[in-house]
Amino acid sequence: MKIGTPKEIFAGESRVAMTPASALQLIKLGYECAIEKGAGVAAGFSDDSYKEAGVEVIGTAAALWKACDIVAKVRQPEEVELKRLTKGKTLISFFNPASNEDGMEMAKSKGANVIAMEMVPRISRAQKMDALSSMANIAGYRAVIEAGNNFGRFFTGQITAAGKVPPAKVLVVGAGVAGLAAIGTSTSLGAITYAFDVRPEVAEQVESMGAEFVYLDFEEEQQDGAATGGYASVSSPEFREAQLAKFRELAPEVDIVITTALIPNREAPELWTEDMVQAMKPGSVIVDLAAEKGGNCKLTVADEKIVTDNGVTIIGYTDFPSRMAAQSSTLYATNIRHMMADLTPEKDGQVNHDMEDDVIRGATVTFEGEITFPPPPPKVAAIAAQKKPEVKEKTSEEIKAEEAAAFKAQTRQQVTLLVVGGALMLGVGLVAPASFMQHFIVFVLAVFVGFQVIWNVSHSLHTPLMAVTNAISSIIILGALMQIGSSSGLVIILAAASVFMAGINIFGGFLVTRRMLAMFQKS
Ligand code: NAI
Repeated sequence: MKIGTPKEIFAGESRVAMTPASALQLIKLGYECAIEKGAGVAAGFSDDSYKEAGVEVIGTAAALWKACDIVAKVRQPEEVELKRLTKGKTLISFFNPASNEDGMEMAKSKGANVIAMEMVPRISRAQKMDALSSMANIAGYRAVIEAGNNFGRFFTGQITAAGKVPPAKVLVVGAGVAGLAAIGTSTSLGAITYAFDVRPEVAEQVESMGAEFVYLDFEEEQQDGAATGGYASVSSPEFREAQLAKFRELAPEVDIVITTALIPNREAPELWTEDMVQAMKPGSVIVDLAAEKGGNCKLTVADEKIVTDNGVTIIGYTDFPSRMAAQSSTLYATNIRHMMADLTPEKDGQVNHDMEDDVIRGATVTFEGEITFPPPPPKVAAIAAQKKPEVKEKTSEEIKAEEAAAFKAQTRQQVTLLVVGGALMLGVGLVAPASFMQHFIVFVLAVFVGFQVIWNVSHSLHTPLMAVTNAISSIIILGALMQIGSSSGLVIILAAASVFMAGINIFGGFLVTRRMLAMFQKS
C-alpha cells in the first residue's frame, strides 16, 4: 500500500506529517511513501531529502490523494480535502471530532476510515502515538521562550559588578503535559517557578522538577485522575474561589504567568482574572496556552500579542508547535509511524484496522461507512473506574481491642524466643569451653541486633544499605586475615571463605552504588 502526505493548506501551518526519517521507517513496514512537492519545505525538509530516503515526490495535492491508500496529515482536513476521500481510504490526521460533525458525516458518506490523532487514549502503551502530548510538550517549551523574549529581564538571578539581579518568578497554572514542559524549561533557565494544578497527584512531579507546588488551604475530595483517563474534572465553586484567592495573592509577586489549564471538550476555565492582570507589575508577561478554547485569561486575544494599559504583555498564540516546525514535524511524524506500526502488525505494507485494539478503536472516528465516535472508554480506565469494595468503619473500642490483642501476641512471641534462646545458650555453655562462650555470646548478640536493624529498613533503602555494609565487610576481612595464618586447616579454610564472601559484598556494593549514581548523572 502507498502512504502519502500532502502540503498543509491551513494558512501559516508549517508542519508536515512525514519526514525523510519517518519515511525510512514506513518503508521498513512494507509501505511505499509519497509526498506532495514542497510539503516539507516550511519545516526544513527539502524534496531532495525525501527523494534520497526513497519517497516519491508528487506534483499536486489532487494527484497525491488519488495515488495513496493512506493519507497522513497534520491539521483537521478542510472540505476540499475531505472531498478527495474515497471508499476504503484511510486518513490519519488531527480531526477535532467533538466539534466536526460535518467532517465525520462527509468521511462516512465517502466510506473512508478516519483516525483522529487527538483521540489516541492517554494510556502507557499509546504514549508513542500521543500526538497531543508531543505538541503540548513543544507548546510548553515555546511558551517559556516566548515569555522570555517579551520579558525585559534575566530568568536567573545574578550578582554582577554592576549590581544584583533578582531571579524572575514564573507561575505555571495547569501542570499537564504543556505545563510540565514549561516548568522544566523555566527551572532550567534559573527562574523561581511555582505551579498549580487541581490534581494534587502532580505535586510530586512538579517538585521533582525543581518547582514549588502551590497548595490551597482547602479540603476537597481528591480527584481520581485514573478514572477520568488522566484528565481533570470540573472543580466546585468553593474550590475555585480558594484558587482565585491564592492567585490574587501571587499576582503582584510573579513576573511571568503561563496558563495551560483545560478540561477536554470544554471552554477553558477563567483563572487569571482582569483584577489579577491589573495587580501585576509593568513588564510582566502572560502566555495563555488555552487561547484556542477561549483562554484562561479573558483579556487574551487568540493569535495575538497585546499589551495592557498597565504594561502587561498577554500572548495568545495558538500555533506554538508550528512556530517550531522542524521539531514538531519530527515528533508528529514519529507518532504517525508508530500508529502505522500498530496498524501493520505483520510488517507487510497492509493495513489491519483492528477495532478490538484499544488504541486503534479509541482513535477511529469513522470506519467502513459508520461514525464510530465517541469511542467506549479504554479498558484500562474502565478498570480504574471500578468502585473500590466498601470497607466497614471500625469503632474506637474495636480498634483498641485489636491493638491490645496484637500487643499480647507480640509479647508472648518475644518471651518464648527469650526462653528458648536462653535454654540453648545454657545447653551450649554446659559443654563448650569458657573462651568459646565469650565469643559465641557476642556473635549471637551481633546477629540479633543486626537482624533487628536491617529488618526495619524500608525496601527502597536496601541498596544504599548494601553500600554501607561495605564497612562491616572490611571488619570481617580484617578478622579473617588475622586468622588466616593459623596452624589449623579448618580455620584457614573458614578465614579464606570469609575473605572471599566479604570481598563479593564489597565489590558488589561498589558496583551497585556506581550504577545508582550513574542513574542520576546527566550525560
Ligand atoms: P493537559 O490536559 O495535559 O493539561 C491540562 C492541565 O490543566 C491538567 O493537568 C489539568 O488538571 C489542569 N487543570 C484543569 N482545570 C484546571 C483548573 N481549573 N485549575 C488548574 N489546573 C487545571 O493538557 P495539555 O496537553 O498540557 O495542554 C494544555 C493546553 O495547551 C491546552 O489548552 C491545549 O489546547 C494547549 N495547547 C496550546 C497550543 C498552542 O499553540 N497555543 C499547542 C498545544 C496545546
